[in-house]
Amino acid sequence: MEKDPLQTPFKLSSHKLEHRVVLAPMTRMRASDTGIVHPRAAEYYSERTTPNSLLISEGVVIHPRGRGFPNTPGLYNNEQVQAWKPITQAVKEKGGVFFAQLWQASLPSLRLIKERFEG
Ligand SMILES: Cc1cc2nc3c(=O)[nH]c(=O)nc-3n(C[C@H](O)[C@H](O)[C@H](O)COP(=O)(O)O)c2cc1C
Repeated sequence: MEKDPLQTPFKLSSHKLEHRVVLAPMTRMRASDTGIVHPRAAEYYSERTTPNSLLISEGVVIHPRGRGFPNTPGLYNNEQVQAWKPITQAVKEKGGVFFAQLWQASLPSLRLIKERFEG
């Protein structure tokens, strides 16, 4: 029987991925009000990791004025960076390749999102 193409290896720059099934970025809105990622994200991401697979994180905010949705995690101060470490470590221990999706909401989108969430 022919192998499912999704299950064939793929070289992404220096990463040799075992297959082509990738975790898409999915905003969870479970972070604290100050953008600290929720500790249970370690479980969420690691249980979706297989050896040499690619995961893309939920959108991670890179500037205090760039937060589109509330309770999305940030990566612009030391506390936020430290909070991600057990999560990236959990993925690494299972052999995953983990990319952060960097997110900076634009001014027009911030206005629209504000209307949606705050009326
Ligand atoms: C709950 C939820 C959160 C999502 N968050 C993000 C996100 O943070 N960044 C992003 O680029 N796409 C996000 N998406 C879009 C998904 O990544 C997208 O739906 C997925 O790649 C599948 O593609 P498709 O919708 O074109 O089939 C989100 C989708 C869902 C359902």
